[in-house]
Amino acid sequence: MTEHVKTEIGSGILTLTLARPDKKNALTNEMYGALADALEKAETDPAIRVVLLQADGDMFTAGNDLGDFAKQSAGEGPKERQVTRFLHGLARASRPLVAAVQGRAVGVGTTMLLHCDLVVVAEGTLLTTPFVNLALVPEAASSLLMPARIGYVRAFEMFALGEPVTAENAVAWGLANRMVQASELRATARQFAERLARQPVGALSATKKLIRHPDTLLERMNAESTVFAERLRSAEAREAFSAFAERRPADFSKVQG
Ligand code: COA
Repeated sequence: MTEHVKTEIGSGILTLTLARPDKKNALTNEMYGALADALEKAETDPAIRVVLLQADGDMFTAGNDLGDFAKQSAGEGPKERQVTRFLHGLARASRPLVAAVQGRAVGVGTTMLLHCDLVVVAEGTLLTTPFVNLALVPEAASSLLMPARIGYVRAFEMFALGEPVTAENAVAWGLANRMVQASELRATARQFAERLARQPVGALSATKKLIRHPDTLLERMNAESTVFAERLRSAEAREAFSAFAERRPADFSKVQG
């Protein structure tokens, strides 16, 4: 349990709210655990027909907690990495996932959107996947889903240079369904969730299963996670995490691999 993820069930909708706004909703191991538990519950609780993801504060999420990454990099991570359960839950989810995204979605904040079925972004939102900037590699099956969704050249620029995607481009490139004013964000996403909750759940789940390929996604996640774990322990990654903690730009010129 963590107070940093709020859960609420009503009218067939499980609402998950990231609630660590002072840290820009950076995701800790406990938060991944709470999200994974909620996704598992959604699979078995007949009262849940749709899952809605939203976030308090000015930012959807700044991605994985970099303090947690630094610990893992030094071999001091948690015994059970809950992020794996969360990502597998996204890949396996049979209920539709709706997301309301404002401010910034960094790293896994963006790659989790590739597993959402309807995404609403607020005007001014920036999506970034600065994995290489942190000496890491893409995760959440994004190495497969991102180029498939937006094309290789755009995906490479996002991954390799951490180049942000604007809300307008997110809609134009097929990363989001709608862009709305920030004041309309939650209401628009909720309306989508309510419409989905009124649809026949069996047909909806079967449709989702036909157009997504959970086994392929899980296989790709596992392959990525092996490389990710190696990169996390690299000298490059240690430099990247130290730089963030010391609020300075990373200098990769003296570290090899
Ligand atoms: N992990 C841990 N803490 C984080 C965080 C993260 N990913 N992102 C932000 N925070 C913390 C900051 O350390 C700061 O904490 P403090 O107030 O105790 O100093 C607080 O959240 C506010 O962040 P700040 O950087 O001051 O906000 P900003 O609006 O200037 O910038 C970001 C926001 C998201 C652009 C910037 O925080 C950032 O680049 N974060 C790292 C994102 C990232 O690389 N994530 C991993 C992707 S794989």
